[in-house]
This record gives sequence, structure tokens and C-alpha cells, in this order.
Amino acid sequence: MTQRVLTGITTTGTPHLGNYVGAIRPAIAASREPGVESFFFLADFHALIKCDDPARIERSRIEIAASWIAAGLDPERVTFYRQSDIPETPELTWLLTCVTAKGQMNRAHAYKASVDANEAAGEEPDAGITMGLFSYPILMAADILLFNAHRVPVGRDQVQHIEMARDVAQRFNHVFGAGKELFVLPQAEIEEALATLPGLDGRKMSKSYDNTVPLFQGGAKALKDAIARIVTDSKLPGEPKDPEGAHLVTIHDAFASAEQRASFHADLRAGLAWGEAKQRVVDLIEAHVGPMRERYEHLMAHPEQIEEILLLGARKARAVATPFLAELRDAVGLRKMVAVAAPKADQAAQAVKSSVPVFKQYREADGQFYFKLTTADGGPLLQSQAFAEGREAGTWVKRFKQEGAQALAGAPVELASGVTQADVEAALSALVAAQD
Ligand code: TRP
Repeated sequence: MTQRVLTGITTTGTPHLGNYVGAIRPAIAASREPGVESFFFLADFHALIKCDDPARIERSRIEIAASWIAAGLDPERVTFYRQSDIPETPELTWLLTCVTAKGQMNRAHAYKASVDANEAAGEEPDAGITMGLFSYPILMAADILLFNAHRVPVGRDQVQHIEMARDVAQRFNHVFGAGKELFVLPQAEIEEALATLPGLDGRKMSKSYDNTVPLFQGGAKALKDAIARIVTDSKLPGEPKDPEGAHLVTIHDAFASAEQRASFHADLRAGLAWGEAKQRVVDLIEAHVGPMRERYEHLMAHPEQIEEILLLGARKARAVATPFLAELRDAVGLRKMVAVAAPKADQAAQAVKSSVPVFKQYREADGQFYFKLTTADGGPLLQSQAFAEGREAGTWVKRFKQEGAQALAGAPVELASGVTQADVEAALSALVAAQD
């Protein structure tokens, strides 16, 4: 079975080398594995929680999208989109909000940290805390559950949020699933093997410590200048240097092959000067990042190309989200009123019953997949929505053949014009009966 891997990138700031080594590079590598379907998105609704500067929000979205694409994300393979292009996300957020215990949100680390800071400063506990910050984990749960992600690669600080998403999913399944697992329970994935990259001063590379090496911004010069500022010990040229524990070496090794690492370590032990060592680090990283930076600069000069890629991603994402949300609305009772008011089977239904209907799967010129149900002589009964994957259409057809009319609830289909729900139910029952 394919595994869905999903992760969000909050769009504040611009990516640095630590983000590249710790998140961008491994995520893109994982998206190329067989059997993996990746969903990566710009968490720009989340960004609004932390930032009320529209210009910064705008710029950060462009820089982060350009960085991921330049670093090798393949938008054909990965579903790459903006959270704010998916209206199903805030809608699901509300459905989840209604089954989330407030007490559980009181225990969220991010919220508690703000309360603690207020108390330490002698303020009201909730001073300056918005409902956005308080409800942050529910929005994040909606991001994940809307796509039924199995695996969610995140930093350690986000693990509690994934646990909350599992809890909410479980509660929703229990209350509304009627014995069915509506939501997959997601699993946090922390890449233990990936050391976090140290910054200029040896602490974790982070914008909040002001110790970052920029990934693309500022060009080759900014990279060289930053590396020149990496703190080393004061051993002189010719003096043997210990590569273990030198963070210049850790940064080098994150980009080096096994052979390059071994020779760099040996040369330091033999007395390589720190100045020359830094030049080797600059050359190594530049060889890796330089070609990507060209793509980055091209994209930054053509944001309309980024826009197009993200809109394509939103279409792919919504081909999954729209039918699923219809199913969820149905599960909570937000249903079409016609279902209850449908008339009894009439003559047309009698005619339908007398012959076995058929499902047809096909692909349109728009590249999307569809299926339809017709009477034996081709009269239309049901029409599906568009699917990005033929497999998804196939899964629905299979379900209809097994479950008959039961599969109708929440299915991504519309009745053909002039056909009633009762007609279709009769046809599906006839189909199931004919198979038995
Ligand atoms: N909150 C995450 C962070 O700050 C970003 C994020 C938003 C996310 N929605 C998500 C990550 C869904 C994984 C899945 O890092």
C-alpha cells in the first residue's frame, strides 16, 4: 500500500542551511522513494498566528516555495500547495474543533509556554494570546487528517501536535464513523539520524539565535561571509586540530562524501589552517548549492511560475480533499435534504430494475479520471467527480460493487439529471444482486 507522507512549512522567514540539511533535503529525498505519495504545503494560515506583517508573509511564502522547488522538489511527483488554497482545511478545522476538548488544548506546549511567560512577567495568564495560537493544534490536525496522511515528518517540538491529531481523529472516528475508520491515525516521524546542523556559534542553527548561514539569499558572497564567521579554536596553521566537536567540521560533513570527510579530518589532524579549511567548506557547499541557487534566482525573478506550480498543486490536493470533506459532512449529518424527501421508486426505477446497470471508468482530455453508472442500455444514472489518480476512481467503483447503495453516502458522485436517488439505489441493488 502506498504511504502518504505529509508535512507543512510555516511561512515565516527565509530558509537557511540548517533548514536545508534538517528538513528540505531529507523530505525531497523521501519523496522520491517508491511507494510514497508526498504532500508538502506552505502553512501560511499558521504563519498568520505568529506574524501580522503582510509584506513579510508575502515575501516568505515566495522565498520558501522557490527554495523547495530549487532544491529539487518535483511538483509532478509531489503534491505541493498552499494551505490557504484549500478551503476544505478551515472547514474541517471547525468539524474537529467541535469534538476537541478544551482541556486538551490547555495542555498544548506552545500555549502553555506563552502562559508561563506571562505569569513570569506578572501579566494576566492569557495576555496577548490569540484564539489562533490556542487553536493552532486543531488547524494542524485538519491539515493532516484531510489527506489521511500516514506519516508526518516533523521536528521534535511538533510531536505533541501529532499526538493531538491522533486523539482528535480517534474521537471523530468513534463519534461519527458508525464503525468505519473515517480518518487514518497519523504517526509522527522524527529523523533521529539527522543531527541538527550547528550554527556559527556552535548552538543549533536557528533564526532566533541569529547564527544562521543563508541557503540562497545573498548569493555566493553571503555564504562565504557567513562561513568566515564560524567560530573555531585558536590553533595556528601547522598545529594539529581535532575534527571531533569542531562545528565547522559538522557543517562540512553534512555536504561531504565519506571520502571527502576522511581526507578533511586527516588534513586537520595534520595541521591544515582554519582559514584554508573554511575555504574548502565554502567550495564544497557552493558546488552543492550553486546550481540550485541559479534556479532559485530564476524563480524569484518569475514568481508567476511559482504561482502556477502552487495552483496545480492545489488542484491535485483538492481532488482528494473535496470528495473526502463531502463524506465527512455527511457523517456529521450535514446532508442533502433530497435524500430524505426522495420519492418512491417510479416507473423509471422499475425499468432500471429489469436490467443490470454497468460502471464505466474513463479518462477525459483534461487528464482527470472519472467513472459513471449507466443502465444496461447506456442511460446515465450517476456521474463521478474528477480524480487525479485512476486508482481512486477504481476504489470507488469497487466499493459500489461490494456495498451497493450503502456506498452512496458521501460518495463523490452526482445523480444524472432526471434520475432520483431511489432510481440509483434500485440500480445498485440490482447490480449487487446480479453479482451474487
Ligand atoms: N506547525 C508546524 C511547524 O511549525 C508546521 C505545520 C503546520 C505542519 N501544519 C502541519 C507540520 C501539518 C506537519 C503537518 O513546524
